[in-house]
Amino acid sequence: MTAIHIQGLGTYVPTKRITNVDLMSLVDTNDEWIVSRTGIKARHMLADDENGSDAGTEAALKALEDAGIAAEDITHVLTATCTPDYLCPSTACIISGKIGSHGAMAFDLNAACTGFVYGLDVANSILAGKPGAKVLLVGSEAFTRRLNWEDRTTCILFGDGAAAAVLTNGEAGTPKRCLPSAPRLRDVRCGADGRQYPLLTVGGGTNRNYKPGDPVQDDFYLQMQGREVFKQAVRSLSAVCSELLEDNGLTLEDIDLFIPHQANLRIIEAVGDRLKLGSEKIFVNLDEYGNTSAASIPLGIGDACAQGRIRPGSRVLLSAFGGGFTWGAALLEF
Ligand code: ACO
Repeated sequence: MTAIHIQGLGTYVPTKRITNVDLMSLVDTNDEWIVSRTGIKARHMLADDENGSDAGTEAALKALEDAGIAAEDITHVLTATCTPDYLCPSTACIISGKIGSHGAMAFDLNAACTGFVYGLDVANSILAGKPGAKVLLVGSEAFTRRLNWEDRTTCILFGDGAAAAVLTNGEAGTPKRCLPSAPRLRDVRCGADGRQYPLLTVGGGTNRNYKPGDPVQDDFYLQMQGREVFKQAVRSLSAVCSELLEDNGLTLEDIDLFIPHQANLRIIEAVGDRLKLGSEKIFVNLDEYGNTSAASIPLGIGDACAQGRIRPGSRVLLSAFGGGFTWGAALLEF
């Protein structure tokens, strides 16, 4: 019998903060448009000398401290990211080297904004097969490095950030810093529909559009057909949550807090309407961070804990949607 727990959590958000008003000097936009269409008021940006792996390392060190587990005892390092420092080596290897979990298996996982939920599913499988394992799962993104700062339809939406979790089979005491108790991962599920991949892309310079010596092209930056992504996000987020709850014999009445992927407040409200979930049970922090992709869900858990919205006994539903398309949901019992 496996009982996977999140034993510790840590978050890191870069200091540099860009407001909507700041963006007005770059593109033809304004605070009113951005807030009314997205709910976003600010986002954070890595310093010039900082990489996504540095953000992930900071979050990882805090998660280890919260868990009371030493880096050398970690057996697996997974980084959910679609903005890695390099295509090779993986950001997970870089983080592993920096924190000192030498010898641990380390690899990146790319499911765009659903990356952290995918990571929970992968960690769940690892721990089911290897009960003594200790998995460090990091969601870390450097999206501001992959935005076209002349495209007002996308550059307003994203921010940088990282958050990490330590997962173990069984509980190892009360977390020391961030989590009020070590939640059990009661269930997790993920899916994808690759037929719709062109609706949201971030090119890598390794596809057939690129010949040696070519300059960077537009597809190096995030490109998105926002309206289509919006509709699909609402459908997928609602469906995967309903399915997960039904399979666990639960209803939304049984949920204390819903932490959805933080992409757009209107998407979150539409999902709340579909699920008939009151806004008091929905956690939102995208006003401060924008869309931090794979870091969004664990940053939400960290902030919800800091605000006292998660307590021992809380049942928390997580759900994400991203490029691919990918989607996923997970149920945590604190
Ligand atoms: N400021 C001012 N005006 C703008 C801006 C801006 N920043 N951006 C667009 N506009 C204009 C458009 O040019 C357009 O003008 P027009 O009517 O004269 O042509 C008008 O505003 C409406 O534009 P739309 O794109 O239709 O606006 P919409 O209401 O669809 O909102 C948005 C756009 C915010 C991108 C929305 O579609 C969205 O949030 N989509 C989903 C994003 C998402 O969920 N992503 C998750 C996955 S991300 C990942 O996986 C990495």
